Amino acid sequence: MISDRIPGSGPVSDMQLTDATLQRFAREVAKYPADQKQSAVMACLSIVQQEQGHVSLAAEKAIAAYLDMAPMAVHEVTTFYNMYNQRPVGKFKLNVCTNLPCQLRDGNKALRHLEDRLGVHMGETTADGLFTLQQSECLGACADSPVMLVNDRHMCSFMSNEKLDQLIDGLKASEGQA
Ligand code: FES
Repeated sequence: MISDRIPGSGPVSDMQLTDATLQRFAREVAKYPADQKQSAVMACLSIVQQEQGHVSLAAEKAIAAYLDMAPMAVHEVTTFYNMYNQRPVGKFKLNVCTNLPCQLRDGNKALRHLEDRLGVHMGETTADGLFTLQQSECLGACADSPVMLVNDRHMCSFMSNEKLDQLIDGLKASEGQA
């Protein structure tokens, strides 16, 4: 249903947060003054993502209700930061920077190479569920281009095609798929 895809429309939320999740939310909210509990929105989104692998619109609505925020305001946070997965992703999320400084230093070439190597287009996940390939905004390491982030944590610099192949081979080997 289209309305289910529009933040702020439809029921308040069709997702029930577990007691354990609510306890984790409460610990984050307690870090802020009582009238500023919305400041915990990023932490709450991260908790949901840790538990479910991504942040669905239903989860956004549940968080919005919990924090007394408009669902659209929560959605704006989810869509601004690409560390939040808006849909299920593969075991390894590969974010390649293609902002202008990196474009000028082979950022797009690195993305194209990964598309060819993995057989997916940017934004897609491989059929085996191992890799999701995405573009990213500036990662703050323009001088090291091409640069990429693996699973929002591990920064990889100077990613030549050879280094990209080594990375993919290593990640596959870690999953017993060498
Ligand atoms: S533009 Fe790619 S790291 Fe800055």
